[in-house]
Order: sequence, then C-alpha cells, then structure tokens
Amino acid sequence: MGPFKNYIFLWLTIILVWTSAGSDGFKPPGRFRESSALVGNRLYFFGSQNTAQQRDNIYLDVTLSTLNATIPSWFMSNSIPANFLLASSWVGGPNKNTIYLLNHLNTSNGDSNNTVVYSFDTVTTTWSTPNISGQIPLSRQQFQAVNDTNGSNVNAPTPRIDFTATLLNNGLILYIGGVAGVGTIYMSEIPTYNTNNNSWNTMFATGDTLNSRSCHTAVLSPDGHVIIYGGVISDSTDQSQVLASLDTTVNPYKWSIKPIIGSNSPPSLSYHSSDIVGAFMILAFGVMMADNSFNNLNNLNSKIYLLDTRNYTWVTSTSTSPNSPHPQNPTVTQIQTVIASNSDSLSTGAIVTIPLVLIAVLAIAGFIGYWFYKKKKQNDIIRIAGSKFDGSM
Ligand SMILES: *[C@@H]1O[C@H](CO)[C@@H](O)[C@H](O)[C@H]1NC(C)=O
Ligand SMILES: *[C@@H]1O[C@H](CO)[C@@H](O)[C@H](O)[C@H]1NC(C)=O
Ligand SMILES: *[C@@H]1O[C@H](CO)[C@@H](O)[C@H](O)[C@H]1NC(C)=O
Ligand SMILES: *[C@@H]1O[C@H](CO)[C@@H](O)[C@H](O)[C@H]1NC(C)=O
Ligand SMILES: *[C@@H]1O[C@H](CO)[C@@H](O)[C@H](O)[C@H]1NC(C)=O
Ligand SMILES: *[C@@H]1O[C@H](CO)[C@@H](O)[C@H](O)[C@H]1NC(C)=O
Ligand SMILES: *[C@@H]1O[C@H](CO)[C@@H](O)[C@H](O)[C@H]1NC(C)=O
Ligand SMILES: *[C@@H]1O[C@H](CO)[C@@H](O)[C@H](O)[C@H]1NC(C)=O
Repeated sequence: MGPFKNYIFLWLTIILVWTSAGSDGFKPPGRFRESSALVGNRLYFFGSQNTAQQRDNIYLDVTLSTLNATIPSWFMSNSIPANFLLASSWVGGPNKNTIYLLNHLNTSNGDSNNTVVYSFDTVTTTWSTPNISGQIPLSRQQFQAVNDTNGSNVNAPTPRIDFTATLLNNGLILYIGGVAGVGTIYMSEIPTYNTNNNSWNTMFATGDTLNSRSCHTAVLSPDGHVIIYGGVISDSTDQSQVLASLDTTVNPYKWSIKPIIGSNSPPSLSYHSSDIVGAFMILAFGVMMADNSFNNLNNLNSKIYLLDTRNYTWVTSTSTSPNSPHPQNPTVTQIQTVIASNSDSLSTGAIVTIPLVLIAVLAIAGFIGYWFYKKKKQNDIIRIAGSKFDGSM
C-alpha cells in the first residue's frame, strides 16, 4: 500500500491548496473612481463610486514573472473603515508600506468639511486614523494626492477637478487635464508645482495637439514619459487619442499620441486606475466608454490590461519579454490561481512551466491508472479534479 499512501498524500495536498484558494483568488466585480496604490508586489485598490464596493480593499499580485492579464491573482484585505469614493491615496510611512487615504467621509459616513485621513498598515493589515498637526485642509473630491507634505498656494493654477497629478523624479508635480467651472483646460498647458522650493509654474508642451480631457489616468514611465490613458474628452468625439505620452526629458515637454497596438488592448475607459510596475503600466477597472458618453455607469470594466511602456504594446503577460526574469518555481499562490481559476483555456505552455502542477498532473494520471487497476473507490474526487486538468491540457 506504499504507493497508494503517497497518492493519497499528494491528493490531500492538492485538495488543501485548492480549497484554501476559495477566499482569495477571487474575481472582483467592476468598479470606478477607485483609488490605487502599489506596495511591493501588491497593487491595492480602494473603494469605488458604486455602492457595493465603497469599502473594498483588494489587491492584485503584480509579480512580473507571473502576471497574466487573463488569470490575475486577486486577494481581499481588511475593509476600509468608511465609504471611499472620489478621493485619493498615496504610499508613505518610514518603510513605504503604509497607504494613506484622504477622504471626505468619516467612519460613520458623515460628510466632513475637513479632510479625513486613514492609514492602512499593509504589514499588519490594520487601519488607523493618524494624528495630524497643523491646519487640516478643507475636504474635497475628484482630486489627486502625491507624497509631498508642504503645501503653499502661491500663484496656484485655476481650480479644476478630475485632473491627474504626477510627481517627476526631479520633484516637479505635473497637473494634467481636468475640467474647470469656466473655460477650457488645454492639455498643452501644464501647471507644475516645484516641491523643492514650493513654486508654481506653467509648462507649455509641444508635439501633438491633444483633445481636452478629464477622468483620465497618468503614470510616469521609468524612462521619464508621463503616459496618459482614456478619459472624457470635452471638446471632441474623437476617440483615437486614447493613449498618449508626454516626454519630460526634453524642454519644453513634448506630447505624442500613441497607436493602440498589441494582443490585448483595453477598451476606451474613464474613471479607471493606472499604475507603473517595472516597465509595465497596469490598467484596471473604470467605466467603458461608448461614443464618449457616460450614459451607462453600469458598463464597468472588471479586467486588467498591461502596457509595455518600452514600445507602447499591450500584452497579455509581463513574462513574455526577454528582459523580464523567467517564470520561477511556483509559489502556493500561483498554484492556487491556476487551480482555482475557472478560465476556459489554460495554456499548455503556462502549465508546463509550473513543475509542481506537472507533478500533480502526473500523480493524477498515475493515480487514475492505479485506481482503475486496483480499486473502484473514491470515484468522485478523481473525477472532479481530473476534469479540471483535462480541460486545461
Ligand atoms: C514622502 O516621501 C519621503 C521620501 O520618500 C518620505 O521620507 C516621507 O516619509 C513621505 N511622506 C509621507 C507623509 O509619507
Ligand atoms: C461624522 O460626521 C457627521 C457630520 O457630517 C457627524 O455628525 C458624526 O458625528 C461624525 N462621526 C464620526 C464618527 O466622526
Ligand atoms: C460644512 O460647511 C458648511 C458651510 O460652511 C456648513 O453649512 C456645514 O454645516 C458644514 N458641515 C459640517 C459637517 O460641519
Ligand atoms: C494619536 O494621539 C493619541 C493621543 O495623543 C494617542 O493615544 C494615539 O495613539 C495617537 N494615534 C496614532 C495613530 O498615533
Ligand atoms: C516644508 O515645510 C516645513 C514646515 O513648514 C518647512 O520647515 C520646510 O522648509 C518646507 N520645505 C520646503 C521645501 O519648502
Ligand atoms: C524654483 O526652482 C526653479 C528651478 O530651479 C526655478 O526656476 C524657480 O525660479 C524657483 N522658484 C522660486 C520661487 O524660487
Ligand atoms: C516590446 O518590447 C519588449 C521588451 O523590449 C519586447 O520583448 C517586445 O517584443 C516588444 N514588442 C513589440 C511588439 O515590439
Ligand atoms: C496567460 O494566460 C492565458 C490563459 O491561461 C494563456 O492563454 C496565455 O498563454 C498566458 N500568457 C502567457 C504569456 O503565458
């Protein structure tokens, strides 16, 4: 009975891994006007404008050797103590593993006139309300925060909402797009805030002429380009400018509209999230746009999309690039994802690269053979698990 016991042990292991994948490895529903923050290999998403997700704190495993847009690994974390929407987050703390949320709602969802700050310790997964000295700014919405605590208001630009704020490595914050109560905000006219000496300026960018937009996203690529995606275009129905890049390594800065190329490109989106992980821009959630209209706020995106910022190509997986490390030995998380995924087509290639799964498959095959040969018991377990792998091989 030696070999039989070994098979049972392997089976128990597989079943354990499989069932423990139940709480995580889930597929989050679509959401919009969420906020995102990257800590290590975890990309967190907080809240949403849609009611059911307003306290959500979820994260995506963005390990580049395994990230695949078709089978993303999602996890749930501790819910936010207040509803969170139309607000902003940033990463800070002494070890850069605390996420701060700036809210206009308190724990009982009362609308506060002063900004309410919550902090989430990603190590202990606990929420707290930090003690803040000084004058607490009036609460606001549809704004963005970057990590710079000194605020001054000298010659600030005209008021606006739904813009993006991007901190460059030289300490300049670029405020791109948005809408104003009166007048048009041009994409070529970029207010900058210098965090080194607390001064405002305006950069007049050259290059392609972009339609005015709001509710887009902006990220800084490793090679100094601010990449914007999507948004509501206020002065045109043209949807061909959905992806564009601002070269900040030249003076003046220069815009270029990028074509949509690659195997897995996103729809036109607004109110989504974009984050940089290595050379990749990870785009998630948001409202899918049709004819630039927001008529259907239920038309939400629940997928992620990956842009290789080295050549503006939309890819399915970040591991396809020769510059990225090769897929490593599987961690439990990866195995959970593969097994828990109800994906219609798991690629043979992906599975062959995961030796442990291969061993499991061989074990199953062997066990099936053994079992057919010797016993006629425990039919159910084999059929359930076997069918999972049958579909994928
Ligand atoms: C902002 O970033 C600096 C430098 O990385 C860090 O020292 C500081 O603690 C951060 N501020 C906050 C509020 O987290
Ligand atoms: C939240 O704000 C409301 C006012 O909008 C106030 O009545 C309530 O006491 C506050 N709750 C907490 C927990 O601060
Ligand atoms: C916020 O300020 C407005 C205008 O001053 C005031 O009417 C309102 O009562 C304030 N709300 C809270 C919760 O303090
Ligand atoms: C805030 O200050 C109070 C009293 O000064 C203290 O008890 C509490 O621990 C502080 N909270 C944090 C998060 O530091
Ligand atoms: C930031 O604010 C602090 C406190 O007001 C001040 O001491 C410091 O000089 C400011 N930093 C800059 C760069 O202005
Ligand atoms: C702040 O620094 C920038 C860049 O060095 C400089 O051009 C600008 O004049 C400075 N502004 C002030 C108010 O000192
Ligand atoms: C984009 O760049 C990556 C990394 O250099 C490369 O692996 C990939 O083949 C390129 N894609 C295209 C379409 O050129
Ligand atoms: C990503 O996963 C999908 C579904 O399992 C698979 O078809 C595709 O080949 C994977 N991509 C890479 C590059 O591994």
